Amino acid sequence: MAKKYLITSALPYVNNILHIGHLIGCLLPSDVYARFCRAMGRDVLYIGGSDEHGTPSEIGAAREGISIEEYVDKYRAKHLDAVRDFKLSFDLYGRTHTKLHEKLIHELFNRLDSLGMIEEKTSRQPYSVNEKKFLADRYVIGTCPKCGYERAYGNECEKCGASLDPDELINPHSAVDPTSPVEMRETKHLYFKLSKMQDKLRAWINSRVGWPKTAIKIANKWLDEGLRDNPITRDLKWGIPVNKPGFEDKVFYVWFDAPWGYVSISQAATDDWASWWKNPDCHYTEFMGKDNVSFHSVFFPAYELAMNDGWKTVDVLKGFNFLNFNGAKVSKSANNGIFLDEALDIAPADCWRYALIASTPETDDTDFTMTRFTEIVNKDLNGLLGNFVSRVCKLTDKNFGLNVPKSNGTDSALAARLDEKIAELTSMLDACEFRKSIAALREIYGIANEYMTAREPWALVKNGDTDGAAAVLNECFQMIDLFARVSAPFIPDTAEKIKNIFGGNHDLSWPTKYEHRIADGEKFIVPENLFTRIEDTLVTKTTNDNVTK
Ligand code: MF3
Ligand code: ZN
Repeated sequence: MAKKYLITSALPYVNNILHIGHLIGCLLPSDVYARFCRAMGRDVLYIGGSDEHGTPSEIGAAREGISIEEYVDKYRAKHLDAVRDFKLSFDLYGRTHTKLHEKLIHELFNRLDSLGMIEEKTSRQPYSVNEKKFLADRYVIGTCPKCGYERAYGNECEKCGASLDPDELINPHSAVDPTSPVEMRETKHLYFKLSKMQDKLRAWINSRVGWPKTAIKIANKWLDEGLRDNPITRDLKWGIPVNKPGFEDKVFYVWFDAPWGYVSISQAATDDWASWWKNPDCHYTEFMGKDNVSFHSVFFPAYELAMNDGWKTVDVLKGFNFLNFNGAKVSKSANNGIFLDEALDIAPADCWRYALIASTPETDDTDFTMTRFTEIVNKDLNGLLGNFVSRVCKLTDKNFGLNVPKSNGTDSALAARLDEKIAELTSMLDACEFRKSIAALREIYGIANEYMTAREPWALVKNGDTDGAAAVLNECFQMIDLFARVSAPFIPDTAEKIKNIFGGNHDLSWPTKYEHRIADGEKFIVPENLFTRIEDTLVTKTTNDNVTK
């Protein structure tokens, strides 16, 4: 039986239009990996969705003056458009505001409670006098006690990635009514006894392999500082109601419910969900931005391990750094970045997919610019890939007609070079090293180009060596077929177009080595150009648009 692979992509809040940072921060790499795994014949469950609870939705709805349900539906619809347009191949792009999710959270909470892992505690929390309410999470803004950032939220600091308790903020004030005095008042909440999980979590973290350095560092920092019990309820209306007497007017903290969305969405996707989630042999990879790492490396696994019910914990946590645009943070309010509702007016999805994966912020925060985008698309996609395919098809058509010319066997030196690169690409994708994967893919395109340049089939034709020219062009067609297979996880639309050059007759399974799959005389078509060159004027235009809009 094929091995099971569980792949999840962090569930974005539905409080904005998605941008290229979301694409590269979790959506795209997870999709490339899922497509690669499927092409390898693995049994994949690939889950994503919207994180609909928490203060981001409440605050967003209030800002637009509509109900939270309406607001959530509105932005979810836009997210779904992006999922469709950027060819994200989720088995299900679900959501967390569902009955199924609520039922799961209630069961899990009962389980933790019955194990003595939940404690009732009174604490002092920021209370807004004018608004007459406690300020949970993003309703309260103040100075981060860890890094001094002045606009940290009550639950997390977006600057340093710290996960915070609202009462830790220095100079707390209301995000909605900054003029309101804020006092610390007592309120009752439920806490998860995270401190009891210290040793178990440490052993668990130490047993993980293949995590990026940044992610391991974040997890260890938490353990080194000593885990403290954490409040899992909030004084809010929107969210999953707490199923414990005395707490009926509160909801669960969004970071308590959201990661379990991976499970409830899996339940919605397939009746067979437990064969991933309760299967110790399943391989689980999570994708997320670095601001999400503490929640996935400490809190979520702590809940899972505490239950002792055989929940699958993450094997490989891929936490990425941030992608900046033109040297600054991508931000809708500052109008800096490329937003997914407008990206396709600039170039097709495959161009974004390839250029962004080539810029994955794996070791550090990365700056993305339109100049970089244009260079990558023009050089790699239009140049190495598109022009090669088009030249081979046109030259063959002109001299031999629309049938693949006769081979005289595989060029073994060429095959050896390609095999080496295929092996490299395969192991880099397996390790989720995306920049290195693109580098290997680009080299495969490069080897094909070098081969054609060195063999000069046009000169062979001219000199009357028809068989020689046929053999070279045949080899080029075999490499075009290879391109479709190795490119498919990255640029699926283009891979389909290449596949259709041969009437769609050859599958896009992952190759273990270079092989001749195209028969002598097989029909082919001359496709439309796979890519169009992006002109410099577009770069200037897009950059100006973003500045002046
Ligand atoms: N909504 C969070 C964010 O956008 C991510 C939640 S990931 C989950 O940062 F697993 F908790 F759902
Ligand atoms: Zn901070």
